[in-house]
Amino acid sequence: MKRLGLALVVALFLIVIAGIYVSRSGAARQPLRFIHKAHAKEAKCRACHPYYEKQASAGLPRLADCLDCHEGTQSKEPEDVKEEAKLVQYAEKKAEIRWVRLYRVPGHSFFSHRRHVVLAKLECKTCHGEIEASDVPPRRPAQPIVMDWCVSCHRKEKISTDCNGCHR
Ligand code: HEC
Ligand code: HEC
Ligand code: HEC
Ligand code: HEC
Ligand code: HEC
Repeated sequence: MKRLGLALVVALFLIVIAGIYVSRSGAARQPLRFIHKAHAKEAKCRACHPYYEKQASAGLPRLADCLDCHEGTQSKEPEDVKEEAKLVQYAEKKAEIRWVRLYRVPGHSFFSHRRHVVLAKLECKTCHGEIEASDVPPRRPAQPIVMDWCVSCHRKEKISTDCNGCHR
């Protein structure tokens, strides 16, 4: 009896530790399995991220953008068809898909896509990796968004590293 009790305590302890480990790993889970690679041929980045040429943010697609192509079924594999069907369910409920964001700077910092994509002519993959080649939704940012990363590229490219440029 005593042994069994001890085994239970140990098992419970391990479960708690595993739970903490999993939640700390912080990998994002999207409400719907969107695959960039499946869309790279059909659509350009700006079809779904429409603001990067004019604004600070790039923007995420709305359900209406998906339904342009997904009123009917596009894919063949049963598993893919099932995932696509979720789009119609969202439309019927008149609900938006709440995508989980991976890349974000905190409120005290300023980042502009227009500045980096249009003026600095940097490619998306410099900061986001080869997302158009990925056949699973990314679970983590390709590049951790930390100050050292911003500042070291600015130094390399001889761009201002004045605190007020990024902290306004
Ligand atoms: C047909 C629509 C569509 C196209 C085209 C598309 N994306 Fe996306 N993108 C999405 C959706 C939906 C998400 C959110 C779900 C996810 O992260 O998997 C997303 C997420 C992202 C993210 C992560 C943003 C964050 O903070 O979570 C990046 C970076 C990104 N896309 C870059 C690109 C680039 C670069 C291209 C062009 C090569 C591109 N996308 C083309 C729909 C699209
Ligand atoms: C320009 C047309 C177009 C747009 C816009 C579009 N899709 Fe697709 N989608 C396709 C095509 C074509 C396929 C089939 C690709 C294949 O099977 O190779 C597909 C496949 C899919 C699949 C199932 C196949 C898989 O590989 O997962 C899902 C889920 C999906 N799309 C979700 C979305 C979502 C979410 C959006 C909006 C953010 C979106 N699509 C926008 C054309 C589009
Ligand atoms: C110099 C690095 C850099 C480049 C180049 C870059 N991004 Fe980003 N991206 C970021 C950072 C940093 C964030 C977080 C910004 C924030 O929180 O305001 C972000 C956020 C995003 C997001 C999340 C949603 C949003 O509204 O911001 C998407 C989508 C995205 N980028 C797509 C793109 C696409 C598409 C391109 C190419 C046309 C691109 N990015 C080029 C660094 C970059
Ligand atoms: C090129 C852009 C850039 C410049 C220049 C810059 N920062 Fe930052 N800083 C960031 C970003 C992005 C973050 C948020 C990400 C992070 O915490 O690493 C940040 C975070 C911080 C934080 C919060 C750190 C924390 O742990 O929460 C402090 C404090 C800070 N910066 C101070 C400064 C000071 C002081 C300077 C000038 C010497 C400076 N920064 C210059 C981009 C910049
Ligand atoms: C791969 C290189 C690279 C990375 C990474 C990068 N930047 Fe930049 N950044 C540039 C270049 C190049 C410019 C100059 C663009 C221009 O011509 O205006 C610039 C310009 C800026 C400016 C305007 C500068 C000013 O003083 O007016 C700000 C603000 C800025 N970046 C913030 C950030 C932040 C915040 C990050 C990190 C989240 C970041 N950058 C990451 C290359 C980079």
